Amino acid sequence: MILGRKKGVIGLDIGSSSIKLVELGDSKNGYRLQNIGLLPLPPEAIVDGALMDSVTIIDTIRELVTQTKTRTKDVITSVSGHSVIVKKISLPVMSEAELEESIQWEAERYIPFDINDVNLDFQIFGSSAENPEVMDVVLVAAKKDIINDYVSVITEAGLNPVIIDVDAFAIENMLGINYEIEKDETVAIANVGASITNINILKNNMTAFTRDIFKGGNQITEEIQRQLHVDYDEAERIKVGSKIDTTSQPIIQNVLREASESLALEIGNSIEFFQSTSTYEKIHRLYLSGGGAKIKDFDIILQQQIGIPVEIVNPFKKIVYDDKNFDLEYLREIGPMMAVGVGLATRKVGDR
Ligand SMILES: Nc1ncnc2c1ncn2[C@@H]1O[C@H](COP(=O)(O)OP(=O)(O)OP(=O)(O)O)[C@@H](O)[C@H]1O
Ligand SMILES: [Mg+2]
Repeated sequence: MILGRKKGVIGLDIGSSSIKLVELGDSKNGYRLQNIGLLPLPPEAIVDGALMDSVTIIDTIRELVTQTKTRTKDVITSVSGHSVIVKKISLPVMSEAELEESIQWEAERYIPFDINDVNLDFQIFGSSAENPEVMDVVLVAAKKDIINDYVSVITEAGLNPVIIDVDAFAIENMLGINYEIEKDETVAIANVGASITNINILKNNMTAFTRDIFKGGNQITEEIQRQLHVDYDEAERIKVGSKIDTTSQPIIQNVLREASESLALEIGNSIEFFQSTSTYEKIHRLYLSGGGAKIKDFDIILQQQIGIPVEIVNPFKKIVYDDKNFDLEYLREIGPMMAVGVGLATRKVGDR
């Protein structure tokens, strides 16, 4: 959804566990890293996708702007979860202008929300491979109230929201600039966040299937809290590897393994569901992103579960940066969590 047109943008990923800021500039053959930042949010700031504590969210965005010293004001952000629906549909071949006219009416058949409560957007991918009389269209509907909440925190933080994207598309863009995916390769992306796992399957460089699973790193934190009787902050520290006493170690290992297996099973189910609707399309690779990609051995457990090669993404793979300004170790550390932010920052205002 385009809300304005200017150049030079900040990619701002407002996640439930942390807000990430990425700014890219141009380099000779692609992108140069200009600014980057990540600041945690308390667990009650965003709950089930709803911005519960705007004051903290606004303060955190302001703090990121101060820390990174960015002077850019235009922001691209994204939403996912319950308030967004992405659907690949087939429609009779028509022009973009014609679809613009009829989108409201067409969408009513596919969107389970009241059409007056959503912002609609679409992208036409040309006539379908199976039937030249119909065209493939990816339809996006996002609830107006959540869009308004995002616009409002960004505006109140002194910035100017210009595009509201969808997490899954941002990751698609991040992959596009960093990885070479053959046109006939079907690949899956799983972005495992704190509260949501976004699945996106790409076929012919186009979204063929998306699904959000309402599970992620939080389940592990909660389980650690429950089993070790510690608070959220302590459980988070333990999860990401802070030292614990030897009697608790097997408990943690167990929690991590069980959570990984359960998440891998869910991801596998989504992939199987997609395959069952697409004459068992072979999936060549699964790209894993989000903080969940950092759960110890999760990539291995997932690969075993789904029988598809799993690769943890490096969103900075082809982005150049000055190592006087950025620490390679830190970039590697936060990499998987920055996938959405990098994807957002690659968008130019004026793009669809
Ligand atoms: N080393 C690690 N081991 C295990 N889990 C980790 C590690 N590092 C980060 N995480 C977990 O990853 C999650 C954060 O990932 P991410 O930043 O992608 O989520 P988010 O965007 O804030 O959340 P969401 O998109 O679900 O709203 C947290 O649950 C965090 O505990
Ligand atoms: Mg996220």
